[in-house]
Amino acid sequence: PPGRSARNALLTWFDSVSTTRSMPWRKPWINPTSHSHSPSELRSILERRAYEVWISEIMLQQTRVAVVIGYWNSWMAKWPTIHELAAAAAPDDVLSAWRGLGYYSRATRIHEGAKLVCRDPAMKGLLPSGVAELEAKVPGVGRYTAGAISAIVFGHAAPMVDGNVLRVLSRQLGILGDVKADKRVVDVLWAAADELVKKVARDGAEDDNEVGAEPPPVSDRPGRWGQALMELGSTVCTPKPNCSPCPISSTCRAYAEGYALALGTSPV
Ligand code: ADE
Repeated sequence: PPGRSARNALLTWFDSVSTTRSMPWRKPWINPTSHSHSPSELRSILERRAYEVWISEIMLQQTRVAVVIGYWNSWMAKWPTIHELAAAAAPDDVLSAWRGLGYYSRATRIHEGAKLVCRDPAMKGLLPSGVAELEAKVPGVGRYTAGAISAIVFGHAAPMVDGNVLRVLSRQLGILGDVKADKRVVDVLWAAADELVKKVARDGAEDDNEVGAEPPPVSDRPGRWGQALMELGSTVCTPKPNCSPCPISSTCRAYAEGYALALGTSPV
């Protein structure tokens, strides 16, 4: 598994490639515990970021980044905040904004979720920061989307594992099996992702009190890490991988043992 220097190498690689593939929902991380914004300013920034990342991650579940960018931009132009979506959108408008993306129940659940999150006096439009609360309180948000929102927006050490990440981790760890269909394999890889993102958060801990702290301190690292794994899986560690530019080939078991190609292309 990737040790500390491989973990840092993947983050550095991601920072360099992400400048060439810009996405409108990727923005500099704002520390939710920072005192450089007033509480109300901070709240409105987080509310907006959480809404933006939520919509982008649901759209990205069935569609390529290049296509999602256009849909995401028009969605945000129509409903710039979760409150506008909750209060002003008609069900038909929501479906027509989704036309072409497929899986229309996702659009309906986003709309329902927005209304719930705005009406709930404990949330008032601000999505929760923790994975368990996100899954419990927001319709249509499963562990993948919950992890993405929790890590990217709030800086928690939460794993986000999509099909690309399953392939990357199965190669890194040399886990054979059908990474998409075998529930036991999927669970093992989620558990590995959970351990790894916690290490990544602690790698960046600045003072000795934070090292080993439970939960790990919030930072931009968990969100960068999760997106780095997804980016690696979609551009380098593809079903037919191109291992030469891979920043973490030195810790990859499939690479070392010569079966990287076998994993990801077909069940072993
Ligand atoms: N695929 C799904 N979510 C993504 C993200 N945040 N960045 C890049 N690719 C993704």
